Amino acid sequence: MRIIKIFDTTLRDGEQAPGCSMNLQEKIEVAKRLEKLGVDIIEAGFPVSSPGDLEAVKVISSIVKNCTVAALCRCLEKDINAGWEALSNAVSPRIHVFLATSPLHMEYKLKMTEEQVLEQAVSCVKYAKEFCNDIEFSAEDASRSDPKFVCKVFEEVIKAGALTVNFPDTVGYAMPQEFGERIRYVKENTKGIEKVCLSVHCHNDLGLAVANSIAAIVNGADQVECTINGIGERAGNASLEELVMGLKVRGDYINADTKIDTTKIYSVSRLVSQVTGVKIQPNKAIVGENAFAHEAGIHQHGVLTNRQTYEIMTPQSIGIPKGMLFSSNSLVLGKHSGRHAFEERLKELNITIDNETFEKVFEGFKNLTDKKKTVNDRDIEALVMDNTASVPETWKLVHWSVNTGSAACAKGDIRLQNKEGVFSSANAMGDGPLDAIFKAINQIVGKEPELELYDLGAITGGSSSQGETIVKISLNGRRWNGRGVSTDVIESSIKAYLSAINAMEFELK
Ligand code: KIV
Ligand code: ZN
Repeated sequence: MRIIKIFDTTLRDGEQAPGCSMNLQEKIEVAKRLEKLGVDIIEAGFPVSSPGDLEAVKVISSIVKNCTVAALCRCLEKDINAGWEALSNAVSPRIHVFLATSPLHMEYKLKMTEEQVLEQAVSCVKYAKEFCNDIEFSAEDASRSDPKFVCKVFEEVIKAGALTVNFPDTVGYAMPQEFGERIRYVKENTKGIEKVCLSVHCHNDLGLAVANSIAAIVNGADQVECTINGIGERAGNASLEELVMGLKVRGDYINADTKIDTTKIYSVSRLVSQVTGVKIQPNKAIVGENAFAHEAGIHQHGVLTNRQTYEIMTPQSIGIPKGMLFSSNSLVLGKHSGRHAFEERLKELNITIDNETFEKVFEGFKNLTDKKKTVNDRDIEALVMDNTASVPETWKLVHWSVNTGSAACAKGDIRLQNKEGVFSSANAMGDGPLDAIFKAINQIVGKEPELELYDLGAITGGSSSQGETIVKISLNGRRWNGRGVSTDVIESSIKAYLSAINAMEFELK
């Protein structure tokens, strides 16, 4: 069976999509989980695009040991310099350069002729090769390019030292059969292609990214580029979990598999959803809440008799812990559950944390059992998230109160402590309790970010459920996410707003 390489671009193509940004700590958490998941390559960012991206690729390069770390660069020396600065500590670095080859992009975006594009592609691969052996070249918008020209460019960049050539469907335009034929054409008409890795990178504008990637594999592609939960530009990228499980379940037909540990899929998917604040649609294949739910009586009867009647893979194969019913979130732990039971449940949820974090999470769990009779898996995930993947607290919440009602304007009071230990208080009037309290926070912080998104949901069912708030704020064109959880929805909103403020303060410091 052929083994297909998984090139994960959640931290680059995924993260650059609107509403999917992550802070440094969150990127590190995701990178560590991707490494454990067994991806072959992590594309960690686009270093020249911002100092934050460069820093993230640098830190991830020094942490990740078991897979290649790639940095994206345009075909420009300054991009490649930044890329190498970020990657030089990686055990296995890859410089990924791209240049468009389609008539549309060459004429209107690059204002270059075919000859100029060919020359620039070759010279930048040669330049990158001076720093790093592992070079990937992408022909941006390849699916709308002249196939003969793409083959020519691939041939020349291979001669210049590229070890991977990537054929992206940048705008998600291709049809599966057509895309498969293109890949076969490239395989058959590019000198030297047999010595290198042929990759594809499909976008989902017509909902065909996974189908196109599989058609490419069937026709000879060796690597697929994808993201967790399919996040990415516009309609997203090919979803890693769908591709991997497609190969796992239909390996008999496709004759290909990956090195992914599929039992880690579910927990990485949850992590990416939590850190980006982008919810997974319930009917999303593989990781959606309803992916393994059987509602219709006839289906339930079939599944009870023999699961295979309506189930082509088991929830366990993607790491859904035993006892977790997706929609009802079965009771797992309560007031009398001890440290051992809690530790065991974390293991079943595929969550590994260091001892110090464990102590904090366990304390949070005990406090929660005072407020809620039952604590389930979603609550546990939220507690873990609260204590990991967060930036240092420039501002800590000490106290809050609001006064509101149908007849009066809301008034919010807040008391915060800064990292030097100094306390500050403020109050403000507002159009509702949150407006008032967020204004009071802004007074203390001395900045007025725009609240771009506010989303409040219940983690589980029932009126004692914890409220989970996601906020996205922006200032001078930069964006930060925040997340807060509490049994009180106003407190969860304040925590979310403050965590976004802390992410902003950390980056702007
Ligand atoms: O979609 C695309 O073409 C890309 C390239 C940079 C690989 O993301
Ligand atoms: Zn892309």
